[in-house]
Amino acid sequence: MCGIIGYSGPKEPLPILIGGLSRLEYRGYDSAGVAILDGEKLTIEKKEGKLQILKDHLENSKINGNIGIGHTRWATHGVPNDVNAHPHSDNQKEFAIIHNGIIENYAEMKDDLLKEDFIFESDTDTEVVAVELGNQWTGRLLETVTNVAKKLDGTYALVVTSTKEPGTIVAGRMMSPLVLGVGEGETFLASDSAAILEHTNKMIFLENGDFVEITNGKFKLFDINMNEISREIQEIDWKVSEAEKSGYDHFMYKEILEQAEVIERTISGRLEVGSEEIPIDLNKAKGFEKIWIVACGTAYHAGLFGKDLFEKVLGVPVSVELASEFRYREPIVGKNDLGIVISQSGETMDTIAATELLKENGSHVLALVNVVGSSLARMADSVFYLHVGPEIGVASTKAYLGMLVGQLLLAKHWDSEGKLDTSFDEIKQLPALIEKTFECEDQVKKISKSINEKNDIYFIGRGLDYALAAEGALKLKEISYLHAEALAAGELKHGTLALIEEGTPIIVTASQHHLLDKTTSNVQEVKARGAYVIAVGDSSSKKLQDISNDYITLPEASEMLSTVISIIPLQFIAYHVANLNGESIDQPRNLAKSVTVE
Ligand code: M6R
Repeated sequence: MCGIIGYSGPKEPLPILIGGLSRLEYRGYDSAGVAILDGEKLTIEKKEGKLQILKDHLENSKINGNIGIGHTRWATHGVPNDVNAHPHSDNQKEFAIIHNGIIENYAEMKDDLLKEDFIFESDTDTEVVAVELGNQWTGRLLETVTNVAKKLDGTYALVVTSTKEPGTIVAGRMMSPLVLGVGEGETFLASDSAAILEHTNKMIFLENGDFVEITNGKFKLFDINMNEISREIQEIDWKVSEAEKSGYDHFMYKEILEQAEVIERTISGRLEVGSEEIPIDLNKAKGFEKIWIVACGTAYHAGLFGKDLFEKVLGVPVSVELASEFRYREPIVGKNDLGIVISQSGETMDTIAATELLKENGSHVLALVNVVGSSLARMADSVFYLHVGPEIGVASTKAYLGMLVGQLLLAKHWDSEGKLDTSFDEIKQLPALIEKTFECEDQVKKISKSINEKNDIYFIGRGLDYALAAEGALKLKEISYLHAEALAAGELKHGTLALIEEGTPIIVTASQHHLLDKTTSNVQEVKARGAYVIAVGDSSSKKLQDISNDYITLPEASEMLSTVISIIPLQFIAYHVANLNGESIDQPRNLAKSVTVE
């Protein structure tokens, strides 16, 4: 959460900062700001609201300099306004700091500084760090920042510049992501590699406790005690165009339509028996006593899908856990267990903490992540990259599909007895099948008109279809702001059926043939109470088709792949309903991509 960008080099920083912030806006969009250092002249400009407001404000201003830092904010401490926006300054206005994370002991530090007559303008935890920097100046920026960092409890990616040492940026991280972009005679900083990809694909992913001193475009890495360290430079193979809207109105829509192409990459090289791209082989997989799938949000929903598959092929119990809950209870994790942590960003704070817990208990951790070099990828014992490219829309779409397919590939490789009703040959056809599923979009657009004004929408399904329903409901509510709830279809009559009345939309996913009759009976029950039923299934579900108000027919495929592609109509429903209602699809209110705070 919160986007960070920094630049040191021969070019004018302002256009680079604005370009980077535009790519980072999905990380937070309640205010934005920049600080530019020109020799000993420090200029800070910041504005409440979307980045465009800052851009308009800066349109005719010429702020030249040799160093710049910029920030887009997702508020934690203090309401979104101009004053609480970053960068923040010390009392003498000699330091500029931007910060991602939460300083937990800021109140105590603030009390101490107030006793020494320092003053504060904002309600943020970050300003306390800025004021403390002014208070602790030692004569060298790196030393001052590391000294102050030693006093901080909590999480941070900090970027600091100061008139006291013109030409230098110092940055450091603890639990919040920070990437260094290595250019020719220039150095970039960002919270996310996609923000600087247009300038360089050579990146260093800073580790917790790493600090960097950048002077005139050149950098040196240090630990918190100022011992020089080195880190590997990684080359990122994402295409710049993947992080651009390329003429589409919304990233989310572009990312839905990219799914055929990106899934081609997810499966590539992973369909052959014995593929080295499968990080855990069958023998090892069979040896685990229990599997814990741990994740948040959409990634958790993907885990619900994986549970059934892994239990079926390995005969090992699987527990799917919300990372934010798992980390604070005392799960009985053993050293012969496998933890599968799932995350698009690889930076979700709760999932990282859950991973630490799994590792502390000696279990093997396999990370299914999208972002190469992310924290989870580095922490895990084994990594399976989704390879779906940068996902910018806050509402996850292609990464979710990548998570389903990733787990399906693992399960298929572990399926020694052929228990899954699909083959590698069929999985190879998945991109074409996804393409064919896109044909439902016009029908979905019409259906969306019948639900965009309803207040409550229910998604139901059984088995794997329930996992899909959970994701369908989340997609709809996060971008349309309508109340949507997912239920295992058999649970309706245990309470929620009381809410069903004339015209209540019920969206049914029914790809599981062996459960079709049961699901159809549940649909009869809601129909009898006047519900408006929209069902997603294949052409064999005649009875369900007959009783549904709208029926979205999936292309012919095995039951397993039908389930996988069922998410596409649900993604289209969420997108078109939100679009009809004129909502800010890529930047839904109160949310941000990559939840790096608790
Ligand atoms: O980066 P992660 O996959 O770990 O993120 C987890 C959730 O924050 C994320 O899936 C969130 O629920 C999405 N906004 C849903 O669309």
